[in-house]
Amino acid sequence: MTDEELLDAARTVREMAYTPYSKFRVGAAIIDDHGNVHVGCNVENAAYPQGSCAEAGAISAMVASGGQRIVTIAVVGGGEKTGACTPCGGCRQRISEFADEATRIIIKDNDNEWHTYSLAELLPSSFHL
Ligand code: THU
Repeated sequence: MTDEELLDAARTVREMAYTPYSKFRVGAAIIDDHGNVHVGCNVENAAYPQGSCAEAGAISAMVASGGQRIVTIAVVGGGEKTGACTPCGGCRQRISEFADEATRIIIKDNDNEWHTYSLAELLPSSFHL
């Protein structure tokens, strides 16, 4: 699967996001160590802290189907006003749990070019047990 195809999967699932409160839709798509693709979108809740991020949904789907490592994760969200949606701090740590040095994190907003990061760039000196 190409980066463009993975971004397309994230863009498609982004349409399913449940965001009545923020109106900020995010989609995430992972390709795992078995070559399988898993997607997630953000799901908000009237009790705000109970909402979940797109990356968390995609990671849960990966783990539930036996994936162990994130080879690439594409995140699509944001727009002209906010810029592209880079993973929040909590999601950087969630990604870290299933990442290695080769893991790629691809970020894209509505219209602009996309950027690729390593986890070390987004979460330097990260916590591990
Ligand atoms: N959000 C994500 O889904 N992923 C992130 O990495 C950042 C934020 C969601 C949470 C909330 O539903 C909305 O974006 C606005 O914060």
